[in-house]
Amino acid sequence: MPAFERHVFVCTNTRAADAPRRSCTADGKSDLHTRLQQLTRAAGLGERVRINKSGCLDQCEHGPVVVVYPEAVWYGNVQPADAQAIVEEHLLQGRPIQRLRLADDCLNTKTCPHRD
Ligand code: FES
Repeated sequence: MPAFERHVFVCTNTRAADAPRRSCTADGKSDLHTRLQQLTRAAGLGERVRINKSGCLDQCEHGPVVVVYPEAVWYGNVQPADAQAIVEEHLLQGRPIQRLRLADDCLNTKTCPHRD
């Protein structure tokens, strides 16, 4: 079997309700992850694209968070209804979804204005 062309990481981290930072899921379950898996397989990409659950990706203020490698395209506030666009536009056509992308000044910076 050839190597995967892309890995999609879907944060499914969960924290206590009173934790200082929020989390991408309330209970570790992710309809977004499930939907991405289903649509990826339905699109015939099952052997080329791996949809993974991940722990915290440290962009918690923008959750639910998804990152696509090898391009390192970060998406924030991704809902299950966005899965179809990610599969059809990004994974099949190679065009990242601009409306879902995290801003550069939010990514990996403690000065992100959305940080708690
Ligand atoms: S809990 Fe999802 S990025 Fe931190």
